[in-house]
Amino acid sequence: MDTQVAIIGGGPSGLLLSQLLNRAGIATVILERSSRDHVLSRIRAGILEWGTVELLREAGVGARMEAEGFPHDGTFLTDAERMVHIDFKGLTGKQVMVYGQTEVTRDLYDAQDAMGTTILHGVEDVSIHDLDGPVARVDYTLNGERRSLTCAYVAGCDGFHGVSRQTIPEDKRREFERVYPFGWLGILSRTPPVSHELIYANSPHGFALASMRNANLVRCYVQVPLSDKAEDWSDDRFWAEFRRRLPSETAARLITGPSIEKSIAPLRSFVSEPLRWGRLFLVGDAAHIVPPTGAKGLNLAASDVFYLHQALTDALQTGSKGGIDAYSDRALARIWKAMRFSWQMTTMLHRFEGEDSFAERMRGATLAHLAQSEVARRDLAENYVGLPF
Ligand code: FAD
Ligand code: DHB
Repeated sequence: MDTQVAIIGGGPSGLLLSQLLNRAGIATVILERSSRDHVLSRIRAGILEWGTVELLREAGVGARMEAEGFPHDGTFLTDAERMVHIDFKGLTGKQVMVYGQTEVTRDLYDAQDAMGTTILHGVEDVSIHDLDGPVARVDYTLNGERRSLTCAYVAGCDGFHGVSRQTIPEDKRREFERVYPFGWLGILSRTPPVSHELIYANSPHGFALASMRNANLVRCYVQVPLSDKAEDWSDDRFWAEFRRRLPSETAARLITGPSIEKSIAPLRSFVSEPLRWGRLFLVGDAAHIVPPTGAKGLNLAASDVFYLHQALTDALQTGSKGGIDAYSDRALARIWKAMRFSWQMTTMLHRFEGEDSFAERMRGATLAHLAQSEVARRDLAENYVGLPF
């Protein structure tokens, strides 16, 4: 065999899995469609659950996160009337870490380079074969030349649009999906955060999120119709809309500046079952998508990796197949709970086009209940900081 585990996709799932397997003495090769610069230019998630933080430490990539990340003890949920503080630390004893996906990915690339792992960028036409035989094979094209890689297992870490999930025959897959009728327009700007913790705002004009990367770099989002394009939104238009969706005292403190990145992400809930097909295992966005409202996408990828790296290590080092047999059910049990939380946060905080006045009152009542009930706040906090894995 050319390697023990072939990993399709060099995003956070593929890199973290490879890093953990390599540290356990297992050989991997990563096949990535894009250039490294392209992967590192994607601005995505910003919040790490503490379980993800600990897994990154275990993978030996915690140093820069410790130095440059910001632990947060809570977050705010608001509407025009209320500012509800969710005290994660007080309610659950746990925190989350503000540290961007781009930085996590950069740290993982640096660690993988130090390990000497083969990461092939610019691979095309990946196809996966022989998943029910003794040796699996991955074919791909690199620099115009068709090549093959043989391996014991294949990890499909190639995101929502990858080939891995499609390799499982359609009649053996069950897909569950909810597409939301809006997207998030996000900007990155070198300005100070409007609040020391994140603010998730449900306003009569739609949802807004005030997030950050550091003391002089913010990531801010507004809910927009799916028909909008990022080019439709000048910086001035973005900030005016963002300001309009924040409570007035907060809006009064807002400092604006030019955007250095601006993009729109559609919102979707999606799960494909099972996560295993013979020697192939699906991980992260290849298997499931959550709307970003609960900050769960990257964190779910991390828990999949946690389960799979243990399972593959057992299978390859002790011959014990219990872990790989249980992987799909184990990961899905956690995935569905994060699906529920992300859906609930999305429903609670967004305006749905054409909704009735009842829906608006339900959102108001949910926030009012959170303001008044510690039990409700603890439930939200427990999910936001991350269920155990
Ligand atoms: P990906 O990051 O998608 O990585 C998959 C990799 O596989 C990519 O590098 C891709 O180039 C590669 N690939 C794809 N197809 C092939 C192929 N055929 N062959 C080889 N390589 C291939 N989550 C949050 O929590 N908060 C957010 O704000 C947030 N914003 C997001 C914005 C966008 C636009 C998107 C798409 C996602 C966002 N997410 C967010 C979700 C979060 O970023 C993902 O959950 C996370 O990136 C999952 O990591 P992954 O490695 O599984 O998949
Ligand atoms: C960020 C993104 C999220 O989806 C979220 O819930 C919190 C923060 C961010 O990009 O900072």
